[in-house]
Amino acid sequence: MAVGEFAGYAKWWMLSKCGRKSPLVVTIGIGYACNLRCRHCSIDSMLRANPGMKARLTYEEVVSELRSRYAEGARIAYFEGGETTMWEDDGRNLGDLIDEAKRIGYYNVGYTTNCTTGRIFTNSDVISVSLDGPERIHDYVCGEGVFAKVMETLAGLDFSGSVYANMVLQKGNLEYIRETADVVRDNPRLAGIVFNFITPPPYELLPSREERLAAIEEIRRLKAEGYPILNSRKGLELLAEEDWESRCPKYLSAFLLPDGSRKSGCPSEGTESCRHCGYDAVREYHLVDRGNPSTILEMFPVFAKSKE
Ligand SMILES: C[S@@+](CC[C@H](N)C(=O)[O-])C[C@H]1O[C@@H](n2cnc3c(N)ncnc32)[C@H](O)[C@@H]1O
Ligand code: SF4
Ligand code: SF4
Repeated sequence: MAVGEFAGYAKWWMLSKCGRKSPLVVTIGIGYACNLRCRHCSIDSMLRANPGMKARLTYEEVVSELRSRYAEGARIAYFEGGETTMWEDDGRNLGDLIDEAKRIGYYNVGYTTNCTTGRIFTNSDVISVSLDGPERIHDYVCGEGVFAKVMETLAGLDFSGSVYANMVLQKGNLEYIRETADVVRDNPRLAGIVFNFITPPPYELLPSREERLAAIEEIRRLKAEGYPILNSRKGLELLAEEDWESRCPKYLSAFLLPDGSRKSGCPSEGTESCRHCGYDAVREYHLVDRGNPSTILEMFPVFAKSKE
């Protein structure tokens, strides 16, 4: 991490402690279109329930948000979907959005992808890849043949930044945490894995409390064994607690959704979902907000992966 970058994060933290609560991370949902229909994802049913809704941002809308959040203090930008790599506007694509975010001055720019569209953009600092199990389980969650496509994309990837796997724990893949961690450990392209629990809807895939605790115990064991698990130790402890409505440090994470609405925390802000929040990031943000030194040290390598 460059000295200027470190100083920038430190300045943001000091200002937040002095009462200037501005976002550090801006996440932009650029478009809801997707080639897959994963079991745990409610985007398609939301689109079907709201025919005619605005489901994609324009290039200008994205850039305007990047600029205004940067001016407020944000230094990390993430693009979300739908499937991010499918986004286009008037000849521009995700690569152009990444370039613009870097030009504006964001230290760390990343995006999440299902890795199956044959399009991958290598001008970001970080790529987060969805991986919800070993082959048969990932295919059960995301569709037949998806795992093989992900692996093929990773094998052909020429990228100097970091690639992380993101697993959403849900009924159907809870017994496969170790196997998924093995896939990540054995793949030279993957730097590590982040575990999240499903944030409903859909409610029928929500693990029971016992299942949740057993899954966290398994992840802690794997981390102790040296598997490349990016959830901090303290963050894992907090994943056991489901109701984050009152603790979500919403000021820290700003969202712009494809319909143009702005949210804080995550797209589920102010909904029943917060009572079953499964996102690891919100635990890590909470700990960073509290200035927890061990979490900051564990998370710095993640933030520090930006290309010089
Ligand atoms: C909405 S997707 C968009 C990016 C891309 N299409 C992908 O799947 O990676 C971003 C991440 O959210 C996760 N996700 C989807 N539905 C979720 C849910 N109900 N709870 C928690 N995470 C979810 C996906 O598995 C994925 O890792
Ligand atoms: S690939 Fe991403 S956006 Fe598409 S259905 Fe799966 S989780 Fe949802
Ligand atoms: S669901 Fe979203 S807004 Fe609600 S507590 Fe979790 S991260 Fe915060």
